[in-house]
Amino acid sequence: MCGIVGYVGLGNATDIVVNGLQRLEYRGYDSAGIAVYDQDLGLQICRSIGKLGMLVARLQHDCPAQGPVGLGHTRWATHGGVTEDNAHPHRDQDGTIVVIQNGIVENYLELKGRLLEQGHSFKSQTDTEVIAHLVGVHYRETQSLEQAVRRTLGELRGGNAVVAFSVNEPDRLVAARLGNAGGVVIGVGDGENFVASDMPAILDHTREMLFLENRELAIITRDAVQISTLEGTPVQRVPTHMSWDPVAAAKGDYKHFMQKEIYEQPRALMDVLRGRIDQEGGMVHLEDLKLDDDALRQIDRIYAVACGTAWHAALVGKFMLETLAQVRVDVDYASEFRYRQPLLDQRTLLLTFTQSGETVDTLAAMEEARDQHVHSVAIVNAIGSQAARLADGGPIYLHAGPEIGVASTKCFTNMLVACYLFALRIAQARGLMPPAPMREHLQALIELPGKAAQVLEQAAAQCEELTEYYYHASDALYLGRQVNYPIALEGALKLKEISYIHAEGYPAGEMKHGPIALIDDSLPVLCIAPRDGIYEKMLSNVEQVKARGGHVIAIASEGDTLLPTKADHVIFIPETIPLLTPVLTVLPLQLLSYYIAVRRGCDVDQPRNLAKSVTVE
Ligand code: F6R
Repeated sequence: MCGIVGYVGLGNATDIVVNGLQRLEYRGYDSAGIAVYDQDLGLQICRSIGKLGMLVARLQHDCPAQGPVGLGHTRWATHGGVTEDNAHPHRDQDGTIVVIQNGIVENYLELKGRLLEQGHSFKSQTDTEVIAHLVGVHYRETQSLEQAVRRTLGELRGGNAVVAFSVNEPDRLVAARLGNAGGVVIGVGDGENFVASDMPAILDHTREMLFLENRELAIITRDAVQISTLEGTPVQRVPTHMSWDPVAAAKGDYKHFMQKEIYEQPRALMDVLRGRIDQEGGMVHLEDLKLDDDALRQIDRIYAVACGTAWHAALVGKFMLETLAQVRVDVDYASEFRYRQPLLDQRTLLLTFTQSGETVDTLAAMEEARDQHVHSVAIVNAIGSQAARLADGGPIYLHAGPEIGVASTKCFTNMLVACYLFALRIAQARGLMPPAPMREHLQALIELPGKAAQVLEQAAAQCEELTEYYYHASDALYLGRQVNYPIALEGALKLKEISYIHAEGYPAGEMKHGPIALIDDSLPVLCIAPRDGIYEKMLSNVEQVKARGGHVIAIASEGDTLLPTKADHVIFIPETIPLLTPVLTVLPLQLLSYYIAVRRGCDVDQPRNLAKSVTVE
C-alpha cells in the first residue's frame, strides 16, 4: 500500500527520500509527493500523480526542493481519486504542519464534519488531510508536535502509520503507529536518522533498525530517537542489526523482478533448507521455533490463515500437515477468520503464511490468537516484520531474500517447503517419524532445488513458445486435484494478476458441475496431472475437456507417455514425493503467466491496482 520515507540529518533530504521511495516502487502506487524543509528556503512541497519518474521530473524542473529534513510518500488511493491534490504530504489549516499516512481513518467523515463546523477548509478528499488539520488544532493547544500527534492519534479509529513535521520544530519528525496499517521502521544512523514503512527504503544508509509497535510514537531528530507509548510511557529499545543485502534487491541482468525471482527459486529453496536438515540423524531443526516437543505434542488442531498466494500455500500446507503430522487443519482467509469469532482453544495453533509479515488481515488474525492465549507460528519472509514479532511460537523464516515483483513466486515455493519442514518437525516431536522414513523425506527435500532448476531450464523455451498460441485468450481454466488443486488456483491467480486475462482454478472433479459449460475451442485448459494416486482421474478430466474441443496444456511427470497422446501440449516435471509436486508443478505456470504478460505488454512488476503489501482493509 502507501510507502513512507523520512529523513533528519545533514544530507539533502530530497535525494535520500526520493531514493527511498524508489526502493519502494514495487509496492505499487498511483501518485507521490515530498516535503522538504530548509531554514532559508522554508517548506517546499512537490507532488505528482503517476510513477515516481514524474515526481522526479517535477522536482528537477518545477519545484526543486532541498534541505536537511524531509518526508515523502507513495500513495495507493483509498479515499479520493488519483489527483495531485489528493497526493501526500497534506497540510493543516495554516500550512505549517505536514503529514503523510499509510492506512485508513475509519471515522474521518465524523472528524472532518467537526472541523468543517469549526471553519476548516480542505483541499483534498483524503482522510490524511483530516489528520493534518487535527495535528494543527492540537499544536495550537500544546505548542508541541509530539503532544499534537499523540492527541490526534487518540481521536483516530482504524490502522494508521503517520509521520508529521512542523516548521515550528524543524529539527524533528514525529512518527506514530496505531493498529496494523503497516510497519514503521526507524533507521538509526550516525548524525542522521531515517523512518520508513519498509526497510529496503533505508537499507542503503543503515542496518540498525528500530521497529515501532502498535500504539507507539517516536521523536526522530538528527542525534536521537525517543520512543514512547501513545499514553506517554517511555520505551527503551535496542536497534536490531539487519543483514538483508540491498544488492539482492537489484534486478541485475533480468528484464523484470518477477523473472529474476522465478529463476532464483533453486537458490531460495536451498536457503530455506540450509541448516535445518540433519540427514544422518534423520531430524529436522527449526532454529527460531519456540514451541518445544511437548508444546508440539499438545496441538490437536491448526488454523492455517493467510491471504492471496500465501493462502494457496496454506491450502497445500493442509495436506502436508494432515498427512505427515496427523493434525487436523482448517484453512481460512485471514480477512474472514478475523471477523467470524473462530473457535480456538489452548490446543489450537494459529499458523500464518505471509511474505511481507505486514498484511493487515493476517496480523489481525494473529492478534485474535494472542488475545485468546492461543499459540501462533508465522511462516514469513520479512525478517523482523510484525508477523515475525507477533508469533509467540516463533517465526519460520523463508530466507528467500527480498521479493520485489508484486506477483509472489519464490516466496510461494519457499512457503511450501517451510511448511513441509514444520510438518516433519511436528511428526518428529510426536514420534510419528522414525529416522528411516524421515531420511527419505529429507532426501526428497535435498533433491528439490536441483529438480526446480531442471524444470526452469527445460520449460522456459516451451512456455515462451506456448505464449504465441495463448496470449490473446480472454479466459483460461486451471484444473488440479488434491495437493495440486491449490496449484490450479495459484496458476490462475498468477495469470490474471499480471496479464489481466480472466482465469479460474478448479478442483478437476468439480469441472462437470459447472465450469464444463465454459469449454470451447478458444479456451486454454491447464491440467496439472503428475503421476500420483489420482493420476487416472486427471486423465479422464483431460479426455472430457478434449471431447468438448478445449485446448489442453498438461503438466505431467517425466516418462509419462500416455498424457502426450491426449493433451495438446505437455510440460514435464521430474518425479518427487507426491506431497512435494506442487513445488515443481507451479514453476511452468509461473513462467507461462510471465511470458504471456510480457507478450501482452503488461507491466509485470507493478500490475495495475495491486500492491505488494496490503496494509489496509
Ligand atoms: C499474489 C500475491 C498476493 C499476496 C497476498 C499476501 O501474487 O503476492 O496475493 O500473496 O497479498 O501477502 P503476504 O504474503 O505479504 O501476506
